[in-house]
Amino acid sequence: MKGNPVNCESYNVKNLKLDEPLERYLKLVNGHHVLDLGIGQGKCSVLLARQGFNVTGVDLSNTALEACKNVPNLTFVQDDIRNFEIEKNKYNLIISRCVLHFLHKDDVHEIIKNIKEGLCSGGMVYISVFSIADPGFKKRELNSDFDKLDNNIFYKRSENTYMSYFTKKEILDLFADFKTIMVSDEFSLDLSHGKPHYHGIIKYLGRKE
Ligand SMILES: C[S@@+](CC[C@H](N)C(=O)[O-])C[C@H]1O[C@@H](n2cnc3c(N)ncnc32)[C@H](O)[C@@H]1O
Repeated sequence: MKGNPVNCESYNVKNLKLDEPLERYLKLVNGHHVLDLGIGQGKCSVLLARQGFNVTGVDLSNTALEACKNVPNLTFVQDDIRNFEIEKNKYNLIISRCVLHFLHKDDVHEIIKNIKEGLCSGGMVYISVFSIADPGFKKRELNSDFDKLDNNIFYKRSENTYMSYFTKKEILDLFADFKTIMVSDEFSLDLSHGKPHYHGIIKYLGRKE
């Protein structure tokens, strides 16, 4: 496990809403066991729990704990997702939305391996991560607080934390043994929290065959 967790207390979610790919393809999810790694305030998963899915949400933050406690069908585990042991062949859907870029890629690769093992046959994975087009990438390149390491990883010495930026090819390669249901590489204005700002984001939804 590399570095400390990044302090990225989940922002104030204005409204609960499934990401469009999840909404569009939810009917392909073949069972009710859902795991959300870095659930935050449960933007997607609280809705899924309300729809009757049996959700386990993992997050380190107290804000997440507050938001997720007392939600029927949702079990919250306060833990580092790098430590959380994913039960094998259990889940029909595993989500990690806007979380994995806060880790070193070695840890991301280990988590993706565990996600694959945690899905039952036909299980789906949905992840979204910052791409190299994200404005934060350039900002970090110009900021002397960050060391740029190989493979688009940044290290912040003062906090012993890492940030990773991805390409679409990299994500597709990581899931080469999965059937891709959708993948996108977008640059768009984010109106969901705080002041309007841009993000470069790769979204991937795939199925374990
Ligand atoms: C940007 S928020 C996204 C929250 C949620 N997935 C969503 O889409 O609204 C990132 C979340 O990841 C959590 N997080 C980041 N690194 C983590 C780690 N190593 N272990 C557990 N949670 C982590 C943060 O606490 C935060 O709630």
